[in-house]
Amino acid sequence: MSPFRVTRTLPEDATDAALRADVLTGLTATPKTLPPKWFYDARGSELFEQITELPEYYPTRAEREILRARSGEIAAASGARTLVELGSGSSEKTRLLIDALTALEVYVPVDVSESALTQAGQALIAERPGLSVHALIADFTGRLELPGTPGPRLLAFLGGTIGNLLPAERAAFLASVRGLLTPGDALLLGTDLVKDEGVLVRAYDDAAGVTAEFNKNVLAVVDRELGADFDPGAFDHVALWDAENEWIEMRLRSRVAQTVKVPALDLAVDFAVGEELRTEVSAKFRRDGVTAELAAARLELTNWWTDSQGRFALSLSVAR
Ligand code: AVJ
Repeated sequence: MSPFRVTRTLPEDATDAALRADVLTGLTATPKTLPPKWFYDARGSELFEQITELPEYYPTRAEREILRARSGEIAAASGARTLVELGSGSSEKTRLLIDALTALEVYVPVDVSESALTQAGQALIAERPGLSVHALIADFTGRLELPGTPGPRLLAFLGGTIGNLLPAERAAFLASVRGLLTPGDALLLGTDLVKDEGVLVRAYDDAAGVTAEFNKNVLAVVDRELGADFDPGAFDHVALWDAENEWIEMRLRSRVAQTVKVPALDLAVDFAVGEELRTEVSAKFRRDGVTAELAAARLELTNWWTDSQGRFALSLSVAR
């Protein structure tokens, strides 16, 4: 049997139906919203890669620093024979983990993008004989089913992407993750941490304007996929710190009063001058909060590692 398998649990047309539903719900709500998962078409993914290299955007470098320093400890603590990675995307950071996991037999990357999965999977097999890769094309915010693989399993959710979920969505997500695990299996979770407001806002409003372009790209996605006539130039990028909720919000602020048509939904959306559309929440965490949210999902935090500047954390928790 080939050491590389791909399973699609996401029907080809599911993405289209989900985008329609999200755009209809979000653009008819008050205030208007769009979920951040629609940023990541080919252009958006490329812009995100650029963001990770910006001087202001520290999370990727901070998480990589932790993985460099702690992969050995993570491997020893988990003893994983299976690594499941949610939202694997480009798996450069994962490589640090895989290299350290000496008992690893199966790697299960889960992503909505088939091309990302196939590229990363093939390269890995060439380098690590004996390792099987079972890629899953799936949306990890929905119901997930994992292939039967040897335990203990380590499930990794890196990058701080859990911060893009609202608190109730996070609780549901962690409960469903726990449902995939057997007692003794572990979760490795990346979380960006609460810090100085200026540092946070600059990370989401960089001087070169890459994040602004990334933010506006979601409008181009809706234009292309649903025939809408959003003019990205008619909106300003906004990044702000919500101190109460301890999250960054990205918004698009209409520069003028305008009506946007979305033909695929038979919809016309009015924007007042200055009206804002929320496109992303990126929550920042504290150790106590992470511990409590994990515990609510029957996951017991056993390790907490931060980068040398205390900006970002990786936690390891064990299913009870
Ligand atoms: C990859 C989802 C964690 O929230 O920081 C980067 C996405 N948004 N700049 C984040 C993002 C704006 C990023 N995540």
